[in-house]
Amino acid sequence: MRTRAVVRQAVADDAEAVAAVRRVVYPYKAMSPAALRHMITVQSPGERFLPLVAERDGELVAWGSAGLNVWTSEPGQSEVTIYVHPEYRKQGIGSELADRLHQHLTEVGAVRVRTFVHPDGLEFARNLGYDGTRQMHYAGLELTGLPEQPPTPEGIELVSFDAVDPRTAYTADTIVSLDEPSDSPLDAVEFDQWLDEIWNSPSMDKSLSVGAMAGDELVAFTVVETAVDRMWSGMTGTIPGYRGRGLAKLVKSAALRRAAAAGIASAYTSNDDENGPMIAVNNWLGYRRVQTELGLLRTL
Ligand SMILES: CC(C)(COP(=O)(O)OP(=O)(O)OC[C@H]1O[C@@H](n2cnc3c(N)ncnc32)[C@H](O)[C@@H]1OP(=O)(O)O)[C@@H](O)C(=O)NCCC(=O)NCCS
Repeated sequence: MRTRAVVRQAVADDAEAVAAVRRVVYPYKAMSPAALRHMITVQSPGERFLPLVAERDGELVAWGSAGLNVWTSEPGQSEVTIYVHPEYRKQGIGSELADRLHQHLTEVGAVRVRTFVHPDGLEFARNLGYDGTRQMHYAGLELTGLPEQPPTPEGIELVSFDAVDPRTAYTADTIVSLDEPSDSPLDAVEFDQWLDEIWNSPSMDKSLSVGAMAGDELVAFTVVETAVDRMWSGMTGTIPGYRGRGLAKLVKSAALRRAAAAGIASAYTSNDDENGPMIAVNNWLGYRRVQTELGLLRTL
């Protein structure tokens, strides 16, 4: 007879096993064990982040997490993530994680929850009261045969993030994030928190991330996160006054070349369906769609 799954709070030492499950469910957004360890252990208190794992016969088979979105000024916004190893689905594990996480979010004052699902998880989410129409496209690229890197315009200098001051990067990141399509504006990003969660995260590879400087100002950038043989684009942005000049194409071209030279085989990225300019940049680089996830919301 099979035993029931045991759900418990995740601890730092689960990171390796969580990374393995995540890689099976989301081969296009793999995270390194170091990045997951950071996610489990480094969260601002305001997020009230709850990371859970489910084990069956001593083996880690699922992840679930929930927390408040502290990057927005809109009160009570929250996020839930659940993934169950394909061999352990339809056994109630996802539902148990969802119950625990929704209860936690209610207790910490969340009023609206956002989640993303694969199309085959839509029914599960709808049964939990989720609804919505947002689409997030994931695309991948083998790092061979990249298009020629565009010339660097006069007055622009390409630098690696090793050479960028965190305040300068924070300023650019917070400006461009305001324009990324989303349900709640990213308008309340505090420097110390950003430093802990983004800049000091082991997932950010500063030697491969590339910025375009105009004098002292970071005007375009792309962040590279790595997980063994693959990379993920954490964020690409160009500040409004410099858009439409090919700078996103330029920084991402340079970063993909650096990643290829560092032995990374493939790159992945995600774009909201409404993000025409970024999809145009990625199509030009040769990315091909590998998955579309559905962005859903429910009120508590
Ligand atoms: C997306 C973003 C990084 C693009 O930066 P950029 O420096 O202007 O990009 P580039 O000049 O290199 O290329 C822009 C491309 O978008 C195209 N484009 C511009 N507006 C468009 C629109 N509304 N729909 C479709 N394509 C559009 C341009 O024509 C150009 O492609 P082309 O040269 O093949 O014609 C910038 O708009 C931004 O910072 N947005 C906010 C942050 C964000 O959403 N980042 C992406 C997160 S996934």
